[in-house]
Amino acid sequence: MRIVDHPILGKIKERKKVFIEVDGKKIEAYEGEPIAAALLAAGIRVFRFTAKEKEPRGVFCAIGRCTDCIMTVDGIPNVRTCVTPVRDGMKIKTQVGLGKWEQK
Ligand code: FES
Repeated sequence: MRIVDHPILGKIKERKKVFIEVDGKKIEAYEGEPIAAALLAAGIRVFRFTAKEKEPRGVFCAIGRCTDCIMTVDGIPNVRTCVTPVRDGMKIKTQVGLGKWEQK
């Protein structure tokens, strides 16, 4: 679900629709919005699992401070998805523990 008519900010302007891949599943997003916003709009709440206890984590602060929202983006681990804008064709993976760099 997305807010399209905010009581203070008004109506959301037209934006370019793009597609990103999340754990192999294609989802719709808007170019420039935070990755986390696109995931939440698609109903995805778990972004990573902690290193020791493997507990699920998702958006917490939403301002780039807590690192609860980190995921592997285009092969790069530990990307804070709440402050990273969407680009068409991004490949995003749920991160487990410290994550791993992926070969391209
Ligand atoms: S939710 Fe805290 S850094 Fe992204």
